Amino acid sequence: MFKNPQKLVVQITRKVMDLEWRLLLLLLLPLSLIVFVSLSTTSSLSSLSIFGGNSTRENDAASSPRHPYVNFVESLKNRRDEKRKAELDRSRIAVCLVGGARRFELTGESIVEKILKVYPSSDLFLHSPLDQNSYKLSILKDAPRIAAVKIFKQERVPETESQVRVLTADNSPNGIQGLLQYFNLVEGCITLIRSYQAQKNFTYDWIVRTRVDGYWSSPLSPDNFLKGQYVVPPGSSYGGLNDRFGAGDFDSSVVALSRLSLIPELNSSGFYQLNSERAFKAQLTVRKIPYTFKRLPFCIVTDRRYDYPPARFGVPVAALSSHGPLSGAKCRPCTVVSSGPDVGNVMSKLDRGWSWTEWANGTMDLCDASGEWETGWQRLFDRTAGKKLAAVRKRAEVLKVKECVANFEDMRRRSAIWEAPPPLNICELGLSTKS
Ligand SMILES: *[C@@H]1O[C@H](CO)[C@@H](O)[C@H](O)[C@H]1NC(C)=O
Ligand SMILES: *[C@@H]1O[C@H](CO)[C@@H](O)[C@H](O)[C@H]1NC(C)=O
Ligand SMILES: *[C@@H]1O[C@H](CO)[C@@H](O)[C@H](O)[C@H]1NC(C)=O
Ligand SMILES: *[C@@H]1O[C@H](CO)[C@@H](O)[C@H](O)[C@H]1NC(C)=O
Repeated sequence: MFKNPQKLVVQITRKVMDLEWRLLLLLLLPLSLIVFVSLSTTSSLSSLSIFGGNSTRENDAASSPRHPYVNFVESLKNRRDEKRKAELDRSRIAVCLVGGARRFELTGESIVEKILKVYPSSDLFLHSPLDQNSYKLSILKDAPRIAAVKIFKQERVPETESQVRVLTADNSPNGIQGLLQYFNLVEGCITLIRSYQAQKNFTYDWIVRTRVDGYWSSPLSPDNFLKGQYVVPPGSSYGGLNDRFGAGDFDSSVVALSRLSLIPELNSSGFYQLNSERAFKAQLTVRKIPYTFKRLPFCIVTDRRYDYPPARFGVPVAALSSHGPLSGAKCRPCTVVSSGPDVGNVMSKLDRGWSWTEWANGTMDLCDASGEWETGWQRLFDRTAGKKLAAVRKRAEVLKVKECVANFEDMRRRSAIWEAPPPLNICELGLSTKS
């Protein structure tokens, strides 16, 4: 009757798991016998520890009596995750990290722990402008694998006729030049990836694009790798698509990352006066790349001040300690001013198609970000981020030029592509004035 009962149950389970498992029981009852027999003849149900399995699911299951079917359904999901993760570990993944290093002493190790070490065979591509914070990038010495590093003096990107037509300077702090600089950082990453691929004669299966100023509170899950679909976070869409993170196969990613070179195409399709998010959406649309939304456990650490409470088109700033996922909302370490259902009073006033982000069920706590970071933010950060990240933050505070140079030299030895000023220059630029 059922040739492959396990597969069937997995399929049914996937569909119903998010809805109402009680209904599922009725369906499962007649299948359970067959399935238990077949499961016991296959591999064990050990689950993945990195997705919180060790700390939550498994321990919960062991310590509190739960309905056996709940455990059963979860074990099926764990098996699925495990299988997916094993597939990903065999595939080639490029992690593209772009942007300035301003608060990298807070975000860097979270990216190492929650992305790079979760996919230890992934290759890191770093593309970052040179400034007095660039020394903080030496934290990436902890990355398992480094393919390419480009740290460069930012220069004015020439503005073409179609760029001036297609892009708008509204809401961008440095006009369209600011947008072009950002697009150049993103597109530079695909350029680095292509030259590395040519060197090594292969093509990546997946490209994950993320930002230097992203603070990751949980691991990047295998659910975010979908063939033929570009994955973006929901919320913070500013009339287009949230462009603070993206993941996809090689072909989709080439389109998503070609932020400068596709502008003439947007122009000929009649697009006009777009902000970054709208241009991003237009890019995927003109090239017919389907996209899908996944909530993601990161926020963008910002030093900027924003009015509180935010107006309809204002920007809410989440507490870095929020439960999440924050899907790339702006954040800072702060004493929470609004939490729980009260967050709804603030968030319901925001335009849903703009800076709004999902806040329900206590996922987001808010900061009053109208002033500078509060005194004692370090303690708040350390308490949220845990021992490892606190240690990295403290080490960055007392980092000496010599250690910084040694870290960069180590990174350089391990990178196939290294386009950056001499490590001594990068380190002295930020550290010589501190001592
Ligand atoms: C899982 O938990 C056990 C017991 O608490 C611990 O010994 C082990 O190191 C944990 N494994 C991981 C990968 O965290
Ligand atoms: C590159 O790889 C392809 C197949 O993977 C192979 O046919 C080709 O000879 C390789 N080229 C070089 C220059 O190694
Ligand atoms: C951009 O589009 C406008 C309007 O369609 C057209 O007149 C112009 O020539 C285009 N510019 C470029 C550089 O393609
Ligand atoms: C909040 O929790 C309820 C009940 O678990 C769930 O139905 C709903 O989808 C959740 N909402 C969000 C936005 O996560």
